[in-house]
Order: sequence, then structure tokens, then C-alpha cells
Amino acid sequence: MGKVPLVVVRKYEPEKDCLGVEEVERRCEVGPSGKMSLFTDMLGDPICRVRHSPAFLMLVAEMGEEKEIVGLIRGCIKTVTCGKKLSRNGKNTHLPVYTKLAYILGLRVSPSHRRMGIGLKLISVMEDWFREMGAEYSYMATDKDNEASVKLFTERCGYSKFRTPSILVQPVFAHRVRISKRVHIFQLAPSDAETLYRHRFSTTEFFPRDIDSVVNNKLSLGTFVAVPTGSSYCTESVVGLNVNQFLSDPPESWAVLSVWNCKDVFTLEVRGASKVRRGLAKTTRIMDRAFPWLGIPSVPEVFRPFGLHFLYGIGGEGTESVKLMKSLCGFAHNLAKKSGCGVVATEVASGEPLRLGIPHWKSLSCAEDLWCIKRFGDDYSDGSVGDWTKSKPGLSIFVDPREF
Ligand SMILES: CC(C)(COP(=O)(O)OP(=O)(O)OC[C@H]1O[C@@H](n2cnc3c(N)ncnc32)[C@H](O)[C@@H]1OP(=O)(O)O)[C@@H](O)C(=O)NCCC(=O)NCCS
Repeated sequence: MGKVPLVVVRKYEPEKDCLGVEEVERRCEVGPSGKMSLFTDMLGDPICRVRHSPAFLMLVAEMGEEKEIVGLIRGCIKTVTCGKKLSRNGKNTHLPVYTKLAYILGLRVSPSHRRMGIGLKLISVMEDWFREMGAEYSYMATDKDNEASVKLFTERCGYSKFRTPSILVQPVFAHRVRISKRVHIFQLAPSDAETLYRHRFSTTEFFPRDIDSVVNNKLSLGTFVAVPTGSSYCTESVVGLNVNQFLSDPPESWAVLSVWNCKDVFTLEVRGASKVRRGLAKTTRIMDRAFPWLGIPSVPEVFRPFGLHFLYGIGGEGTESVKLMKSLCGFAHNLAKKSGCGVVATEVASGEPLRLGIPHWKSLSCAEDLWCIKRFGDDYSDGSVGDWTKSKPGLSIFVDPREF
């Protein structure tokens, strides 16, 4: 770190730093050079990826007398589930154990200023803030093949490899997806969605304790439940559903998901694609528009900026839950089509049983998103969980849409 005495790390100031930050983002298109890469446009608001969290901070690294911005980092803190304990009511039910968790994202250093210790310095100042705020753990997510990032965090900053969820991405086709007549889908009011999630998901790892602010956020477009047609509740509307009754006497099979509108927060763009690829993509689009009944999966226009919807709060039970999830994903696809999105994305645990019901394209997805974690101290109140960093993964995780 002593190599760059002229680097100052300080809080991001929107008016002063916005252009400089965008310039660093532009130079740091994520992805191995020479291959296709995914570029994110934050629509003039570089804090957008953290601003919906209960506490957040963005730092910039400034260099030399010109005070050029050469690096940046974002961080946020919230309370999440890190494990579960048996409740004392004798009913063999579990209660969540919560912890204060910090998350590092959007770390960028200008290619011309790498290997000078700037990344390390940004992380260290961010972690000082995390500790000051009382965070007990910090984690980050990266592509498992991003050697610079993995080495920086695991070899130099004390993080260990923790979970490997998958990011599943489905293009939005030019045609609507047909939903099976044997599935009935209804929408939950935000307060009912909160009740359902707290009852069924609060012991899932990474479940945010402030789930109410997630489902009530204006970016959350709705929570949808699917049940087999003919089962109880299949005639329910938003107004009619009694969620407490649903929870105490659910149908044999059901599935749920919520939709988050990332499109108004950032857009994505695939850069560096060969002409052949672009040409093929264009052909499938033309074919699909001309012959929609053939159901040719057309590749959306991803070589220009496009928006996405993120599916969160994925879950369900029963023998037909995978099939019901598939219908819910079709429903979400049609919603995304209506909003003019290019893709629908979600992120699930590597062992998630419902992933079979989530349609996605392998070429657009990331099979192994690597999450690394670090514990800040030893004297925590999480006795019944022990050290979360050493715990076994559960079948599911709750991926917070605010941080995608
Ligand atoms: C990852 C990134 C932020 C690292 O920034 P940086 O300022 O170059 O990192 P530092 O100089 O502080 O590196 C500290 C240590 O990390 C490791 N490291 C960093 N880059 C590395 C690389 N390309 N290969 C191997 N190890 C690397 C080394 O141990 C290094 O110490 P050393 O230089 O003494 O060997 C930068 O490469 C970057 O912006 N990449 C593109 C965006 C990205 O992938 N961000 C991470 C997403 S979470």
C-alpha cells in the first residue's frame, strides 16, 4: 500500500464525482478482455446499486494533484438470517438467528492504475466503516474466474469462499409465453407478501429482516403465488386471499416469487460480440416476429442497452411446485415483455430444488457466482449458529433484489 502515497480515499460526492466515476466504470467493463463483456449503465446515479439498503456508503480513490478518480467501491449493511435455532415453544419449530451483514460491491480500479494497492486501500477504508457500524460479517460476490478479485479478497483481505449460487438469465422473447390452464396465479398485497415471507422464509440464509421495506419498495412490482387449478384458493383475488388461512392450510403444492424492476435503476449492454453473433441474434428476432406461433426463442436486442426484471423470494412446496414455478416464470416473462425488458434474471442457491422450474439460457447465465465472506470478530451473540463462515449451505438462499 505504501506504493501510492498520493491516493486519497474519501466519500463519493455526487455533483463533483459523477463524471469521474462513470469514466472509471466505462474503462472497467467487466469480463475477460477480447471476449464479450457486460456493461452496466447506472443512468447517472452510481449509488443506485446500494441506495435501497438500510445503510450504504460509496467511496472513491483520488490520485495526484489533478485529483483524478481512479477507483471506487460501494458497500451496504443490513440485518439478515445467518442460521436458525429451535424455538422454546416445544413445537419443534425453528426461529431465525440474525446478524448484521455488510456487503461489498462494484469495486473498480482503472486499468491504468492496477496493482498499486488501490483496491486494497478501498476495501480497508470500507471495512473500517463496516466495523464502526457494528457489522459482524462482510461478504462479496464475484465471477469465480475473476482471478484478480478472488485473489485480492481471499489471499489479501481474509475472506474465504462461502457459497456458489447460480445467476439464471432468460431472454425476453418477442412472443408471450403461454401459461398452463392447470395453474392459477394470483397476486399478494405487499403486507400479505411480508407475512408469507416471514412465515416461510425467515430461516433461509440471507433473509433480510427488513423484508417489509423490500416488498413495499416502489421497485417491487408484485408478489405472485401459483396453485394448481381446482385446488382451494384458486379463485382468490388480491382482495379475497386470507394469507393467514393460506399459511395454516396451504394447498398440497404452491409456489411463490416476486418481481423487482431493475430497469429503472440500471441498464445492461453486451459489448464485444462478433458480427456473426449479432447477425444470428437478429435473424432469430426477425423470424420470431414473423412467425410467432413457431415459438422460436428470439434473442433480444442485447447489443444495445436493455433493462431487466429480477425475480426474488422464490419458493414453494409440494410435488407440483417445480411445475408451478415454471408457470410463474412464464408469467414474469410476460410482465417483463410488457415493460420492454431484454431479460429476466434471478439468483438461486446451487442446491435450490426449484431451479428445475426456472427457464434460463446457459449462455447468458453464470453457473457459479462465488460469494466470499469474512468474520470481523469472535465475541458474537450468535452462539447457536457458531461461526457462520464455517456453516454448511442450506438448500436455498434469499437473494436480496436491492443488491443485484
Ligand atoms: C479487482 C481489482 C479491483 C483489483 O484492484 P487493484 O487496485 O489492482 O488491486 P491491488 O493493487 O490492491 O491488489 C492487491 C493484491 O490483490 C491481488 N491481485 C490484484 N490483482 C491481481 C491480478 N490481476 N492477478 C492476481 N492477483 C491480483 C494481488 O495479491 C495484489 O497484491 P500484489 O500486487 O502485491 O501482488 C481490479 O483488478 C479491477 O477493477 N478489476 C475489474 C473490476 C472487478 O473485477 N472488480 C471486482 C468485482 S468484486
